[in-house]
Amino acid sequence: MLYIGVDLGTSAVKLLLMDGEGKILNIVSKEYPLRFPHPGWSEQDPADWMRQTVAGIRELTEGFDRSQVAGIGCGGQMHGLVALDKDDNVLRPAILWNDGRTAEEVEYLNNAVGREKLSKYTANIAFAGFTAPKLLWMKKHEPELFARIAKIMLPKDYVNYMLTGVHCTDVSDASGMLLFDVEHKCWSKEMLDICSLREDQMARIFESFQVVGTLKPEIAKELGLPQTVKVCAGAGDNAAAAVGTGTVGEGGCNISLGTSGTIFISSKKFGVDPNNALHAFAHADGNYHLMGCMLSAASCNKWWMDDIIGTTDYPAEQKPITDDKLGTNHVFFLPYLMGERSPINDTDARGCFVGLTMDNSRADMTQAVLEGVAYGIRDCLEVARSLGVDVRKSRICGGGAKSPLWRKIIANVCDIELELIESEEGPGYGGAMLAAVACGEYATVEEAAGKLVKVVGTVEPDPAVAARYEKQYRKFQKIYPTMKDLFPALNG
Ligand code: XUL
Repeated sequence: MLYIGVDLGTSAVKLLLMDGEGKILNIVSKEYPLRFPHPGWSEQDPADWMRQTVAGIRELTEGFDRSQVAGIGCGGQMHGLVALDKDDNVLRPAILWNDGRTAEEVEYLNNAVGREKLSKYTANIAFAGFTAPKLLWMKKHEPELFARIAKIMLPKDYVNYMLTGVHCTDVSDASGMLLFDVEHKCWSKEMLDICSLREDQMARIFESFQVVGTLKPEIAKELGLPQTVKVCAGAGDNAAAAVGTGTVGEGGCNISLGTSGTIFISSKKFGVDPNNALHAFAHADGNYHLMGCMLSAASCNKWWMDDIIGTTDYPAEQKPITDDKLGTNHVFFLPYLMGERSPINDTDARGCFVGLTMDNSRADMTQAVLEGVAYGIRDCLEVARSLGVDVRKSRICGGGAKSPLWRKIIANVCDIELELIESEEGPGYGGAMLAAVACGEYATVEEAAGKLVKVVGTVEPDPAVAARYEKQYRKFQKIYPTMKDLFPALNG
């Protein structure tokens, strides 16, 4: 049988076709616009996701025996608010995971309601990108629209709804709404009250590997697929990527260098970071995980390359950054181009280059960008280490992980071994694996990961380079606290 994995990302939907043995037969990517209507705001049109997913599935399966497609599984950008009216029409553009408009609502939730209560109800505190503060923002700024909300969906859940007609979500993605009791895997009545919401406005909750429905007849026809194709609940993109890299069960670690940068630690036990700097979410394998999320990771490099330097030849720009340069750069970069989530939770934070001198070259600045993101990942890793989580090695995926130089920098800055996976298609591959489990090809997600995910290489830290980076990281750690109070004044 064949399985379709959908990675509903921020810049594009990436789709892959996988056979029952985990072999990738085809990959297709379809872009859609991302809008920043105000500095720090970030929106997308759900109709674009659907249009490109449908076009993508048709293109993906062209020339293959479509009758063999058994399941579809989606890993989607998390936290985005898709508000539907009583006829299931989208009420406004989706407000995305990296949108920073809700500073006031976050302040209200964390301080007036209180972090302790939020953490007790949901295992997490409020961050600007989470869904609950966005609903409070809508209630205040768009009260007529807020009053018309009949269903609250997350991005990939909207696509699943359009495919099946079922208002569904999965436990991993629901975890990032701040409306979900992560430990008990149900909607939090207290949080719904705090946000003036009713339970009937929420989607039905599934484990990621459960079937939510089959294709609606008209969609099946449009896609050229059998109506019997099963759609599984899927997962938030990070949980899906973790499945796709085999980061399941107890103590696995995955670093994802996509538009966002995440460090994801899987666990069989439910656990909460007492300071809530890391998110405590349910995992797509039926267990739990801790996660730190940087809002800008590969997007920092993309911004620097495409928009500032004006090139698409990333390897050429990275070529002058030879091994002897690693850990010696006196230019630093704060990667907070969209504010920052983990671990500092500061919507006012901004990107900056620090420490420039006349002798600096463009390559030094490119290196600083790659290093700044690595230091940000290290910041999250330090929080995990402070909780007693002993991370010695990690898998790595995402567009940024294609750069051998960036992988080397991450391995040395974090002083951990990185394992490279045969298929780098993290969320899409994980989505297809979840579909395969939903269709009964594998009994559990862990079994699928054990059979399908293959480590094909490692990047070891070099003790001398790691020691140099240790000193550099200490310097980096001083920059944000020094700048912190300046940012609100600069932004004002
Ligand atoms: C995770 C997060 C991002 C998005 C990116 O909490 O906000 O990783 O899921 O798609």
